[in-house]
Amino acid sequence: MGDTAYRIEVMHGVNLDMLGQRDPAIYGSLTLPELQVRIEEFAAALGLRVRFSQTNSEAELIEHLHRLRGEADGIVLNPGAWTHYAWAIRDALEIAALPTVEVHLSDVKAREPWRAVSVVEELCIASVSGQGPDGYRIALERLRDALAGEQDRA
Ligand code: DQA
Repeated sequence: MGDTAYRIEVMHGVNLDMLGQRDPAIYGSLTLPELQVRIEEFAAALGLRVRFSQTNSEAELIEHLHRLRGEADGIVLNPGAWTHYAWAIRDALEIAALPTVEVHLSDVKAREPWRAVSVVEELCIASVSGQGPDGYRIALERLRDALAGEQDRA
């Protein structure tokens, strides 16, 4: 992997630090550090550079998005429950103006009706849910393809 590898910011929102203690039938049994090791492996296989963050503070996630321009080429975002109602995160994502793929470990469209709503979906190049950790591999592939396509057109 050279210095020209795309930089992907993998952002985990509220309660995702509790993976491993949340219902494994819904979220699987990996802890967040274990999931991140898996994502590192996916990224390495795709020649991408990843940086991770997790926060339970909506303000922190928003400020992180504000700082991202020039620091990342794309975003993989699992906002947790904020997905379903946090319009300020949606607006901050629009300000970041980077290609983004939304990921959910669980199949949000097949659960409670309120989880079927995503306030970030319209800003994302793709949304992946219900694929467990593999969803992050799919998201990274989609971003790599989108970024490589942008370069071809430049
Ligand atoms: C989640 C789905 C959300 O509805 C939930 O609030 C989460 C995790 C997922 O990865 O499946 O915290 O984003």
